[in-house]
Amino acid sequence: MSTTNVQTTGAPPVPVSFPPKEIKQQCDAIVARYPTRMAACLPVLHVAQKHYGGWISPEVEAGVAEYLEVGDSHIRGLLTFYAMFNTKPSGRHEVWVCRTLTCWLRGAAKLRSTALAKAGVDGCGVESADGRFLVKDMECLGLCEVAPAVFVDGEPHVHVTPEKLEELMDGCE
Ligand code: FES
Repeated sequence: MSTTNVQTTGAPPVPVSFPPKEIKQQCDAIVARYPTRMAACLPVLHVAQKHYGGWISPEVEAGVAEYLEVGDSHIRGLLTFYAMFNTKPSGRHEVWVCRTLTCWLRGAAKLRSTALAKAGVDGCGVESADGRFLVKDMECLGLCEVAPAVFVDGEPHVHVTPEKLEELMDGCE
């Protein structure tokens, strides 16, 4: 991941040329599936985040806005509303712990503390010192009937115990 385009002054971000050739076909195909370019914002942002190492810089944000012909503020609103997007560098592995009622009643608090201890951080949303983990609190992951649920690098895991979560995190290099 290159961070050479990270904005360091108060000047407006200079948009990257988006999409880069590696993901151009994928992004164009997504846009073609929707009635408007704006409707393609979320899937295109997912592709962008994956391509740029797990986060969206202000320059990428501006590039996506240009590509989809929407205002920067629209993209900013999506990035700040949806917890699955990162606007700063994230760890190499993301651990999402559901904090909504069903999971909480079935032990998610212990999963959260286990994940934080394993990552060696005090709170969610903080990249671990070795850059290995980013633990996030998430709202309902849609797996209430098999709670508690976590996602590790986008993969769902259900009926998770603290021991199982430690095992999963041990498997992340
Ligand atoms: S409450 Fe956790 S998945 Fe729904």
